[in-house]
Amino acid sequence: MKRNFISILDWTTEEIRENLSLAHELKTLFQQRQNPPLLDQRSYALIFHKNSLRTRVAFEVGIFQLGGHAIHLTEHDFTLGKRETVHDVAKVMSRLVDGILIRTFDHKIVVELGEHAEVPVVNMLTDWSHPCQIMADVLTVQEKLGTVEGKKIVYLGDGNNVAHSWINLAARLPIRLCIATSKDSLPDMDLFRKAQEIGVSELSISHDPLEAVREADVIYTDVWASMGQKDLAGVKADQLQAFQLNQRLMDNAKPTTLVMHCLPAERGREITDAVLDGSQSVVLDQAENRLHAQKAILVQLDRWSRQT
Ligand code: CP
Ligand code: NVA
Repeated sequence: MKRNFISILDWTTEEIRENLSLAHELKTLFQQRQNPPLLDQRSYALIFHKNSLRTRVAFEVGIFQLGGHAIHLTEHDFTLGKRETVHDVAKVMSRLVDGILIRTFDHKIVVELGEHAEVPVVNMLTDWSHPCQIMADVLTVQEKLGTVEGKKIVYLGDGNNVAHSWINLAARLPIRLCIATSKDSLPDMDLFRKAQEIGVSELSISHDPLEAVREADVIYTDVWASMGQKDLAGVKADQLQAFQLNQRLMDNAKPTTLVMHCLPAERGREITDAVLDGSQSVVLDQAENRLHAQKAILVQLDRWSRQT
């Protein structure tokens, strides 16, 4: 049956755990120079309405390694919802490709695409969430700390799409998630409360960054102004300056605390050079794991598509 990966919430706890195992397996095979042709003869449309380095390269390389083919499409090729409806694009694409991957602004468009498409739809980032990123990040935490489960994850900074995907993960895997941010940069609090009600994880909000990072296993940050909000950069910087990930905060954490950032970073703003490039930083491992996590997502969706 066709399934989507538009939000972490689309998959169950067990499916997420199994997918992380598959990602680990594919990474091990890759390191042995083995790339099973699991996506042989499959074609994927990759639609980008925003910039991308990691997501695009990881998907294109991953699809190639597994024997498939990727088509890169931007608004120079077609305008979704303008030249034709989202419904029509979904139906046409479903006759031509084996999956539709999209990075755009409005999350609702991706949901609509997912409802109408007869092939899997993958969210490569919207203003609301970034689920592929979090799968790679969890794989990275597993490699470094053995497991993400039970770990204290402090998300520092803007309550944005990446923060939302951490909150969604907390609704599926048991973690201790603290969102450390200012009162005017909170994440979607309905989403946050729903994740609390699900009761899988401990979720908290802190406005005291020094206190929040104490005993953290992971400190995670992201840009303060996301794509599409760059005109708010000055306002966000005023709101979040106390939440910069710098040496002062690191001195309040553990010597083993991992520093994570999805990248691209605005060096000197949400994170200092010394911390981003420091010995506790695993940001390049996160970027590398995009390849393996995203391969696993496509393989899993393809397997489901072929099951009745
Ligand atoms: N982290 C991430 O998604 O990077 P890109 O925007 O470069 O794809
Ligand atoms: N929050 C950032 C993530 C980039 C990968 C953005 O949306 O721009």
